[in-house]
Amino acid sequence: MKASNIKTVGVLTSGGDAPGLNAAIRALCIAGKAKYGIKFIGIHNGYRGLIDNDTFKMDSIDLDSLISSGGTILGTSRVKPFKNPVPDPKTGLLPIDAIKETFKKNKFDALVCLGGNGTNTTAYQLSQEGFNVIGMPKTIDNDIVGSDETFGFHTAIDVATQGIAAIRTTAKSHSRAMVVEIMGHKVGWLGLYSGIAGNADVILLPEIPYDIKKIAKHLKAKKEAGQNNFIIACSEGALSVEESKLEKKEFKKAREAATQSVAFRVAKEIEEETGVETRTSVLGYLQRGGFPSPYDILLATRLGAAAADFLANKQFGNLVAIKNGQIVATPLSVVAGQVKSISENDQMLQTGRDLGICFGD
Ligand code: F6P
Repeated sequence: MKASNIKTVGVLTSGGDAPGLNAAIRALCIAGKAKYGIKFIGIHNGYRGLIDNDTFKMDSIDLDSLISSGGTILGTSRVKPFKNPVPDPKTGLLPIDAIKETFKKNKFDALVCLGGNGTNTTAYQLSQEGFNVIGMPKTIDNDIVGSDETFGFHTAIDVATQGIAAIRTTAKSHSRAMVVEIMGHKVGWLGLYSGIAGNADVILLPEIPYDIKKIAKHLKAKKEAGQNNFIIACSEGALSVEESKLEKKEFKKAREAATQSVAFRVAKEIEEETGVETRTSVLGYLQRGGFPSPYDILLATRLGAAAADFLANKQFGNLVAIKNGQIVATPLSVVAGQVKSISENDQMLQTGRDLGICFGD
């Protein structure tokens, strides 16, 4: 065992859950204890538990059962301690002061935060306040700047691709078009990857505003060529050219006022424009529930074990990231407040275009 003066470390998961979180926690705890003798303290429900000192000793957990389990054993929340902070009505403490108390009471030498953009932005803010913090990249959206991959993404691709394949068979039987709504409010990585893997005819992404006339033209041409069923993989954040011209606030307001998600509207528009009977299927939380794929177990395990080295080497203020297949330290300052979206020259997008998939533009 190597000597390390990082003795006690808090661990939390925050934001939407993703398959692979438990595998990452397991690897962190096993490697941290075996290599450096680090003691891990679990924090319940993300930054909520950090503020409320809702902690427990991780020794009580059967780590091996975690490798392939879904969700997060720590629980999660979307609490952001630096967003509109108000004093707690009981203690009078601001969130940041309550967090200082939690660090003191538990004798934390460091904190590991597993999460997406919001989580790692808060991790950065905490490191700016002087805390020893390490971030880890988890999200089915794959939208963290500074890491080529995030765990959860590949499992979600598998689920969404299987969903599209199942919907294709019923579309074929009924000679219908099916709009399949895929998670991804701000970015369309999941829609792009599962749409291509699922052989979609049209893929709609938040990054590429769609023109319904162009989609209809594409589908009509396929129909004339003899195709009787159509799959439109539609990211939940897909938007029309008209919507893309709205101010951010106006767009948000319009979306909040809508009674159904975008896929239902797209289906209605397609039916009107093409005359093809069209249905909608929202894949929803199936995409981030359930157990992780072997790919995500391996990725999460690798990142979790590397996080233990980051702790011992005091590489604080960094995200344990992966780039070109190698573990690297990406400064949290690079990650904070950013979103990795699909650029027009992305190779997977180009592949989709090469295959004749319509992106609505
Ligand atoms: O975890 C990311 C994500 O799945 C997004 O794709 C989706 O828009 C969002 O979370 C929805 O999560 P919730 O309903 O839990 O806020």
